[in-house]
Amino acid sequence: MANLKVNYLGTDFENPTVLASGVLGVTASTWKSVVKSGAGGITTKSVWLNEHKGHPNPTIITTEHWMMNAVGLPDAGVEKAKQEIEDYMKEKPAPLIVSIVGGKKDEFVEIAQQIAKTDADILEVNISCPNVEDEFGRPFACIPDQSKEITAAVKKIAGDKPVVIKLSPNVTDIKEIANACAEGGADGFCAINTLGPGLAINLETRMPILANKVGGISGPAIKPLAVKMVSDIYQATKLPIIGTGGITTGEDALEIMMAGATLVGMGSSVFYRGADVFRKVSQEMSDWCDKNGVANVEEIIGTVKL
Ligand SMILES: Cc1cc2nc3c(=O)[nH]c(=O)nc-3n(C[C@H](O)[C@H](O)[C@H](O)COP(=O)(O)O)c2cc1C
Repeated sequence: MANLKVNYLGTDFENPTVLASGVLGVTASTWKSVVKSGAGGITTKSVWLNEHKGHPNPTIITTEHWMMNAVGLPDAGVEKAKQEIEDYMKEKPAPLIVSIVGGKKDEFVEIAQQIAKTDADILEVNISCPNVEDEFGRPFACIPDQSKEITAAVKKIAGDKPVVIKLSPNVTDIKEIANACAEGGADGFCAINTLGPGLAINLETRMPILANKVGGISGPAIKPLAVKMVSDIYQATKLPIIGTGGITTGEDALEIMMAGATLVGMGSSVFYRGADVFRKVSQEMSDWCDKNGVANVEEIIGTVKL
């Protein structure tokens, strides 16, 4: 049996699969049950400073090849998140990555300050949301200077917690953003967040299917984009990456690792293959490694011949 253990920014993971942010990731009990289903680690849903209302239903569309969501990042706020983290840490069956989000730089800093004091392993900074202070409300993740500023501000107060920046695919050059975050002190990246927004129309009513009209696209259809972006980020920065986007099978996971990922985030695949997708994907990775003479899965990271 191949060894699937990986070390990501100083933390050991039993296998490279981690729950992606926003999917099943709200309470300590769901995090624990996802670990029981084989996940090597957990990413929480993105935590806001205060309670944040999401969008009205319907918020999710699922099809054979893609999903589209406009959940609007609903959350109970950082105080509740801290309670759940404390509860999870009593058992801590696997490493915990806490995702944080804000509309302003100060909000990121305030949440990060509080999460830095918990026993969570890694801080993931979701910069894909619109900057409410920007003249055009553009997402932080689309502007190099703003991405760098948020990274530096969080890094300054994160203490010894590694800071991972979650990048958006909705940019013309992901390398430019990744390099800016690296200059700001990023320890690693998670890529990619949802693509879009996209629009799906109900033919009978001729209206958008989602109440929010548009949503972010995830699932198998975005995998080639995720693999390319992980490859670009890895080549540009050599920083360790949580490769995320459409990963559904062991072969998908190995592919994104060859592109440069150390960990593999999975969200939509829970819908496509059930809650035990983590165990299935790990088994498939292990089978492939055994057949191909790979003793330690870490050996394949970044080995794509470009
Ligand atoms: C329902 C849903 C909710 C999500 N919520 C978050 C979130 O809170 N924070 C975040 O950084 N990404 C969020 N995402 C994006 C995922 O973490 C992931 O980056 C994206 O879905 C691509 O991976 P996948 O194809 O494996 O789902 C969400 C995705 C979905 C489908």
